[in-house]
Amino acid sequence: MTIKRPKGANDIMSDTIRQWHYIEEVVRNLMLVYNYEEIRTPIFEHTELFLRGVGDTTDIVDKEMYTFLDKGNRSITLRPEGTASVARVFVEHHIYANPLPAKYYYMGPMFRYSRPQAGRYRQFHQFGVEVLGSVDPNLDGEVIGLAMDFFKRLGIEDLTLLINSVGCPKCRPLHNEALKKYLEPRFKELCPTCQNRYEKNPLRIFDCKSETCQKIIKGAPTITECLCEECKEHFEGVKSYLELLYIPYELDEKMVRGLDYYTKTAFEIVVGGIGAQSSIGGGGRYDGLIQEIGGPDIPGIGFAIGLERVLLTLASQNVPLKSILKPKVFVALLDTELIPQGIELVAILRENNIPASLDVMGRKFKAQFKYANKIGATHVITVGEDEVRDALYPLKNMDTGEEEKQTLLSIIEELKGE
Ligand code: HAM
Repeated sequence: MTIKRPKGANDIMSDTIRQWHYIEEVVRNLMLVYNYEEIRTPIFEHTELFLRGVGDTTDIVDKEMYTFLDKGNRSITLRPEGTASVARVFVEHHIYANPLPAKYYYMGPMFRYSRPQAGRYRQFHQFGVEVLGSVDPNLDGEVIGLAMDFFKRLGIEDLTLLINSVGCPKCRPLHNEALKKYLEPRFKELCPTCQNRYEKNPLRIFDCKSETCQKIIKGAPTITECLCEECKEHFEGVKSYLELLYIPYELDEKMVRGLDYYTKTAFEIVVGGIGAQSSIGGGGRYDGLIQEIGGPDIPGIGFAIGLERVLLTLASQNVPLKSILKPKVFVALLDTELIPQGIELVAILRENNIPASLDVMGRKFKAQFKYANKIGATHVITVGEDEVRDALYPLKNMDTGEEEKQTLLSIIEELKGE
């Protein structure tokens, strides 16, 4: 029996890896422009971090974590998200002792054990940002604007930005009380998960997928009705920022997000055309998280975007990906006798930073062209006895089909200029 990849995990290669490179380049350029620094944290952490950080009323912690005991009997978890890890770094390395805010971004795999379907995988990739150290609503605006800018730069359209405020430890208890009072007569009809949420974090009942719970919660008091002055003012500040930069948004009083750490601003970006998993990114403020994991009282805000869903959206919207590839040359030989000349030519091209390769399968000339096409070569240089004697080589542009005999020097000049 052959060994297959685990369910819900993807192999990324061929044309797809070129798309990933393109998206990664867009991310890196964007982050340079906004002045955010890359951070790389381990792929596994102590389980405790996610229990405390993400929260035990969430689906992630409750059902979806890849948790195991290592050989030293420690409980380890493959990271299901990036925020808790960045918060840990912030505390562990005393980043809070430096001038703030600290602005980070990350890209990498996350792991959640859920039922795989289009757009939902057990290993998936996020591009995320986390900013620690400021309560200024303009920062919320910057972070949301940055997420929208990413999609704009990729050429993705028809997105809906949903925003809400989920309150703070001052006003949330009032809302919890009102909500519990409203739900009490129908408590027994709630699903077991929501019965648990009722006690621990009733706000999250708004996020339940069960139809019955959704029906029950429909007329419930929303958090917006209970926000304290500080939260109201903060939310107004966020909206003003978005309006100042003409970033369209919709208010969604029932959007509370699937993680426990959020306070004040919560947002989600949804897109049509990619199936049921339409949330392409989401985030919000988490002013209590650093303290929750043992650090000082320092606020934070961030988001994460699912890169597989970005790729699905690019495909569904037929967005042409601009090539970031430099010309990639294939040197085709008319005769295997000319292999040494071919090797020299490829070496000179590479010395000039022009990606180049040569046939190593002893293929016929036509088959070499076929292979060049397969690997996405942008140009083919033909090498025969006459070419070597005259030091003039036909350079074929694989896109346009044009071919012109040139000296090696002019070939290098032309390809470097592209
Ligand atoms: P999240 O909403 O759990 O937030 O995930 C963010 C995005 O990751 C989703 O909108 C989706 O695009 C993608 N995603 C999540 N689960 C899967 C999956 N199983 N398969 C494919 N894509 C998926 C967070 O993770 C927070 N840490 C975001 C954040 C950062 N909040 C503040 N800072």
